[in-house]
Amino acid sequence: MDKMNRRTFIKLGVAAGATVAAGAYFSWWGENIPATVRDGSALYDVLIIGSGGGGMRAALEATKQKGLKVAVMTKMVPTRSATTMAQGGINGAARTTDSKDSPEAHAFDTVKGADYLCDQDAVEYFTERAPEILFELDYYGIAFNRQEDGRLHQRKMGGSTYARAAYSADISGHAVQHTMFEQCLKNNIDFISECQLLEIVADNGKVSGVIAIDMRSGNIISIPAKTVIVATGGYGRAYWVRTSNPYSSTGDGIAACVNVGIPFKDPEMVQFHPTGLASNGVLMSESARSEGAYLINKDGERFMARYAPQAMELGPRDLVCQSVEKEILAGRGIGEGLNAAVYLDFRHIPKERIMERLFQVKQLALQFEGVDLFEQPVPIRGTCHYSMGGVDVIDYKTCATKIPGLFAAGECSCISVHGANRLGANSLTEVLVFGKTAGAGAADYAKGAGYEGNKEKLQAAVERWNKKFTETTGRSSGPSVAVIRDKMALTMWNNAGIFRNESALNQGLRDIDGLQEEYNKCFIGDTSRTCNTAFMNYIELGNLLVVSKAIIMGAIARKESRGSHSRTDFPKRDDQKFLQHTLISKEGDTFKTEYRPVAITKFKPVERKY
Ligand code: FUM
Repeated sequence: MDKMNRRTFIKLGVAAGATVAAGAYFSWWGENIPATVRDGSALYDVLIIGSGGGGMRAALEATKQKGLKVAVMTKMVPTRSATTMAQGGINGAARTTDSKDSPEAHAFDTVKGADYLCDQDAVEYFTERAPEILFELDYYGIAFNRQEDGRLHQRKMGGSTYARAAYSADISGHAVQHTMFEQCLKNNIDFISECQLLEIVADNGKVSGVIAIDMRSGNIISIPAKTVIVATGGYGRAYWVRTSNPYSSTGDGIAACVNVGIPFKDPEMVQFHPTGLASNGVLMSESARSEGAYLINKDGERFMARYAPQAMELGPRDLVCQSVEKEILAGRGIGEGLNAAVYLDFRHIPKERIMERLFQVKQLALQFEGVDLFEQPVPIRGTCHYSMGGVDVIDYKTCATKIPGLFAAGECSCISVHGANRLGANSLTEVLVFGKTAGAGAADYAKGAGYEGNKEKLQAAVERWNKKFTETTGRSSGPSVAVIRDKMALTMWNNAGIFRNESALNQGLRDIDGLQEEYNKCFIGDTSRTCNTAFMNYIELGNLLVVSKAIIMGAIARKESRGSHSRTDFPKRDDQKFLQHTLISKEGDTFKTEYRPVAITKFKPVERKY
């Protein structure tokens, strides 16, 4: 056998650790839910919905308050969350590679990247805590890439002035997810797996708990809790035909919060990542460009010189993605329709560097596009990647929402650090910084409070959902869930995509309203209780339709171009009218739109130049 290098040794160690942890999880618990949840006697101090990096980091923090009962509920198994799909890295001004970096420089890059739509006080809180998050991960044992002297190596991602992203090759999210899971197992946190959130129940303005369907048995269960942290991730599947997100990213937590009266903040701010694979939208990490890959059009021209002459391929995502789309619209791309593309070119990068730092990217190009990137450029195009908007968090120091006892963190939340455009590698940092904050916030709330929820209301909700299950699954005909879903995705891509305008958005809103009507009478086609994934798809589609409507309403109302929201009929940013957050709330069946000014501290809004 060849001599094993240190990196391979660490990777094998991580893989073995993850296998042992997953094996331990299933053999110790055996069941997907704890017995107390099954028999209805559970009462949690802190119940977290979503087992990504944010949810698990919240759980870890909450257990630091001794004696609290903490659980993480997920609709999958804990290690399958969308965090595993984050590739490029984790930002934090740890200065291990570039001594000139600082939390203030990180804050400035974040605010500028956000096109000034973020709350600058929240951004400062975020960037000040980011370095310690990296060291904490290091201490937990994550397999970071390192420099010769053993310190973390940091790479420079788009829109960043300095090399700031610590990373684990191009599987950084995967490494974070397994590291967090190991820590949760070590701390005896309960996992409630394969349970799909149906509703958050709040009574008299206080949280009572949640209603979920246990996918294995089909039982509708209620879980009482003093506090609930929503950490369910994004909604990229609203753009089903072109997204880098997993099938599970269906906006469940956002929809549940909207249904219980919490506004959806800045819903129109949808991030399109510039480099999704042409054929299916799967992510080619920004770290590819960080490691030197070029963007070229069909003539072999490095076209970013036209749009961002200084930053080139490492401009912020909104700018790079819109540039890719402009090249395609100008006829300088290849292919047609949904699969039109330009190229990401790796041929000049040393093979050893690719094998050390971009081995997943190489594999994805080969597997999905049939391209060996040592030999040929890879066809890519924008793909729906991230939700800057989300559940309206009103206190970034606790992640509290306006309902006492209800908190939100991670991609599903809008704490307002990403504004109109998130920087690459700020997402993993955000889930960890604000997961930690939410865990502490909820634990502080729970430790001083008795259960103030309403168990009768929870029971009534269980009965209502049982009736709904029987009624909806029992229909003998109706429009198909899959067909409605495809129409929704095409509407979102064509009418509320990378470039937007009034008439397309208005048509999109009419189409989504029409699809909602079809949804209300749709055919599920499976009446069984056991692993009824057709019912799960139905619930997820309902959530995506709520999210889609809010995205389009926010986009219609924002008559300007800012960050990822690019209106061809209003091409300029308008700070006079729109330096404000959009807040979309639901009252009964109607949605209303309001605004809230952004918080500005140090950085005066100016025109962005890259
Ligand atoms: O391109 C990427 O690796 C994605 C990173 C991110 O969204 O932060």
